[in-house]
Amino acid sequence: MCGIVGYAGNRDALSIIIGGLESLEYRGYDSAGVSVLEAGAIETTRATGKLSELKKVLSTKKRNGTASLGIGHTRWATHGRPTETNAHPHTAGRVSLIHNGIIENYLPLRAMLEGKGCVFLSETDTEVAAHLLNTLLAEGLEPLDAMREMCSKVKGSYAFLAIDSNNPDRVLVAKNSTPIIIGRGDEENLIASDIPAVLQHTRRILVLEDGDLAEVTASSVYIENGGKQVSRTEETISWDPITAQKGGFKHFMLKEIHDQARVVGDTLRGRISEHDASVKLPELDALRGKASSLKRIVMVACGTAWHACLEGKFFIEEFAGIPCEVDYASEFRYRSRLIDSDTLVIAVSQSGETLDTLGALECAAGKGPTLAICNVVGASICRKAEMVMYTHAGPEISVASTKAFTTQLVALQLLALFLAEARGTMSAAARRNVLHAVLELPAALSQTLKVDSEVAVVAKKFFQARDFLFLGRGRCYPIALEGALKLKEISYIHAEGYPAGEMKHGPIALIDENMPVVMILQREKPLFEKTLSNLKEVEARGARVIVVTDASEEDLKGVATQGLIRVPFVSSELSPILLNVPLQMLAYHVAVLNGTDVDLPRNLAKSVTVE
Ligand code: F6R
Repeated sequence: MCGIVGYAGNRDALSIIIGGLESLEYRGYDSAGVSVLEAGAIETTRATGKLSELKKVLSTKKRNGTASLGIGHTRWATHGRPTETNAHPHTAGRVSLIHNGIIENYLPLRAMLEGKGCVFLSETDTEVAAHLLNTLLAEGLEPLDAMREMCSKVKGSYAFLAIDSNNPDRVLVAKNSTPIIIGRGDEENLIASDIPAVLQHTRRILVLEDGDLAEVTASSVYIENGGKQVSRTEETISWDPITAQKGGFKHFMLKEIHDQARVVGDTLRGRISEHDASVKLPELDALRGKASSLKRIVMVACGTAWHACLEGKFFIEEFAGIPCEVDYASEFRYRSRLIDSDTLVIAVSQSGETLDTLGALECAAGKGPTLAICNVVGASICRKAEMVMYTHAGPEISVASTKAFTTQLVALQLLALFLAEARGTMSAAARRNVLHAVLELPAALSQTLKVDSEVAVVAKKFFQARDFLFLGRGRCYPIALEGALKLKEISYIHAEGYPAGEMKHGPIALIDENMPVVMILQREKPLFEKTLSNLKEVEARGARVIVVTDASEEDLKGVATQGLIRVPFVSSELSPILLNVPLQMLAYHVAVLNGTDVDLPRNLAKSVTVE
């Protein structure tokens, strides 16, 4: 996501901040900006695009001496397009402020502040925080008291850094659900969203906790939580800078697998209202009125996103009762398409730049409503679609998609519930049940991530196999396809995903003792028993079976396997999300054992902008 760097010291703040932001470039961003205190005044510079663009603008500016205090930001757009006015820092009066996270109640706050005469220049949620802080300081509050008061008014996730021209010696910091660290130096302190940003200057790190407020000067760090001073343990970081960029993980893919519990929280944030069991998607207001008349949904995507659509079909048909078709975008483009004003076309894409998906969306334009489900704000697919729902997975660096897929499934689940409510196909009680399970997902994913070491053992047993078969039924069939795709793309081992019940119609001929079969076994009845029978069929023919399941130990009695991975059970609808995680890990460990380039597999690109 976005990158944050702040500095209070005696050296040139500007070059230290830019250097710090450069070490966060791998996270992806679409604009950047800095504010420094020069001769008692705040000097802000912002630019769209890469840091090199910001540097170009800075090099043309006349400086009023050297600044020794400042804040800088790289923005990955969430609210508002990636333009210069939407780039951070946002300035209001004597305050300049940067923010990572999402302010959920920014619209009422903005209206309230506009009522008081504040003039807003950007489309962002962040600007309300700058105005609020400035208003509170202008009312006479001390800096930290104003920051505390401002934070009590905003709902959502945030890491805020702010500077105040009337208090030019300090950076104000606040954290809630978004990471922030402080790097301790000699007569200087740095603040950042991520450790790599400060490693050039110090390895002494304080990690702030949710609810922490801090005031950082060159020589001091004051931290409080709940109105009381607290201390945070200083850690010494031994990672090299590259490992640090990967959050201490060996590869981006592994980091992104482990990001999933957190980013699903971002996908859900502000979108679930428990009291009326409803899903809040203001970005789909135009769809609410049309929902009852929808006769059909056509989903188009490529690769992993196409698998997400196959899963989404289950959610939408079951909850909202709308027949769904799922098409490869590359196929949809070149066949006759029966689309009318009662057909909703949904394009799903992580990058929002996949040419085939964009082309498919273009074919549907003007015929009926179109919706993009996308991760990258302002991408071409988002601009082409009438409506956009963002997945908020944050930048995905590894070519093999992991967290983007998981957040697509969560977004599709929310969409299905939204449509069900609009069409009246689900009672509030039924929606509440599903939403309870959805809200358990981040914790269940954290729990699921603990199977990594067990999966690594299975990978060691099987990494030399030439072929793999992934089998599943119902909602686990798309997961079987996704498991096979992940394995083949990063380990170069041939793998196929198949509906377990179809095996006997041909592929069972492939089975022998050299063929590992990964069976995705959901506990939901009656498919549990049916899939178990399919497991026996392959086992009887000598296959080496690995079972990935959410079934209980009791249910699994008598099931002999060469590898058993169990994940928690949340609900039948959401099981595929959890069952997919061990498959991502299996692909990862097999690829590492085979020595392939995990993050940059041969012949593949992160976003496929050719036909
Ligand atoms: C697989 C993978 C690809 C993409 C596909 C679509 O791990 O990453 O199959 O899913 O190229 O990309 P987006 O979602 O960017 O349209």
